[in-house]
Amino acid sequence: MKRNNKITLVGVTACLIFSMVGTANALTAKEALGKKLYFDENLSEPNGQACASCHLPSAGFADPDQNLPVSEGVIPGRFGGRNSPTASYAVFFPEFTLKGGVRGGQFWDGRAANLVEQAKGPFLNPVEMNNPDKATVISDVAASTYAAEFEAVYGAGSLNNIEQAYDNVADAIASYESSSELSPFTSKYDEVKAGRASFTAQEQTGFDLFTGRGKCAHCHGLGGGKRPDVFSDFSYHNIGIPGNTEYPYSLIENPVADLGLGGVLNNTKYNGQFKTSHLRNISATAPYMHNGILKTLKEVVHFYNTRDVPGAWPAPEVTENINSNFVGDLGLSDAEEDAIVSFMETLTDGYVVAP
Ligand code: HEC
Ligand code: HEC
Repeated sequence: MKRNNKITLVGVTACLIFSMVGTANALTAKEALGKKLYFDENLSEPNGQACASCHLPSAGFADPDQNLPVSEGVIPGRFGGRNSPTASYAVFFPEFTLKGGVRGGQFWDGRAANLVEQAKGPFLNPVEMNNPDKATVISDVAASTYAAEFEAVYGAGSLNNIEQAYDNVADAIASYESSSELSPFTSKYDEVKAGRASFTAQEQTGFDLFTGRGKCAHCHGLGGGKRPDVFSDFSYHNIGIPGNTEYPYSLIENPVADLGLGGVLNNTKYNGQFKTSHLRNISATAPYMHNGILKTLKEVVHFYNTRDVPGAWPAPEVTENINSNFVGDLGLSDAEEDAIVSFMETLTDGYVVAP
């Protein structure tokens, strides 16, 4: 039900944001096809939910329903166990690797190696788009208004081989997600870097704390001139997030701790570790963390600042492998917490420089 309301919004808000951003280059034929697939609400079972439903442009490419810590699937009352992250800038997470320490990958726990592998998941997930099989998805694509575009990109008859066509659906979506439309670099931060705008005093203080006493940049690193600043080390840590017991988690009968990367690698050494989020568009994508337990950026910074102050927070969901070097008792004042928040608010795309 809420999905249908959302879908009518998709086209309108998407246009608004994109015309606001304005700098996105024209899409290639494959990217344009991927965009149609990404916004198509007929590719769920029943119809009504698209990728965009949980990764909506006007919500920073995350779930516009910010009142729930996790997302509702196309079947009302079915929820996944994790918070929807933004799909914007996800292309900057490198391919998952174990070499020289675990890095990269898609999802909070890195279980998809890259965007192509990721895009194969939601269509068949019963708590998301709920198709019974790949054939159902491909027959919907074949019946769509853009079936000819699909064949133009992947060849005549390319919808006949279900396996290959399904892989190509994921390939096209990933190519759209890799386009400048999802990574336009039009935030105030980018304008400041380019010398066309300046930080307020509070934003500058926040940036200095983020890279200094707040210790955020130890994990949410800048690109160091070698790659764009997306504010992630692409690595995995257990920062001690408490378990979430609120609705809809309260519906789960026998809740088990979310082991994150440890569950994927089946290795207790990594229990409780989740991927360091990048922070692009972060002010648009509340709530926060893999289980959506923190509702505002202020709460996030307060958590990092006071996690280890006795009695301040509930126990971590997973008590192994907790990072205590850079997180826990930072001694920041209330005003310093606010400054870090205001710096993070400069990372949202669509900033317009005052004439
Ligand atoms: C019902 C809501 C929902 C739908 C529909 C949905 N997603 Fe997601 N998406 C999520 C959630 C929740 C996660 C995190 C899951 C996890 O980490 O286990 C996620 C994760 C992702 C990520 C990983 C980002 C990162 O930082 O690791 C990408 C990319 C993504 N989705 C793209 C898509 C695409 C493409 C589609 C359509 C084929 C789609 N999503 C459909 C909710 C949704
Ligand atoms: C030890 C590494 C580390 C440090 C230091 C760190 N973070 Fe994080 N950050 C992470 C990880 C890992 C996650 C995801 C954790 C999870 O969901 O369990 C995260 C998540 C976040 C999120 C939520 C992202 C989302 O999409 O929900 C924000 C915002 C954030 N960090 C901001 C900060 C700020 C601000 C600081 C400094 C005060 C900071 N981080 C310090 C590793 C770190």
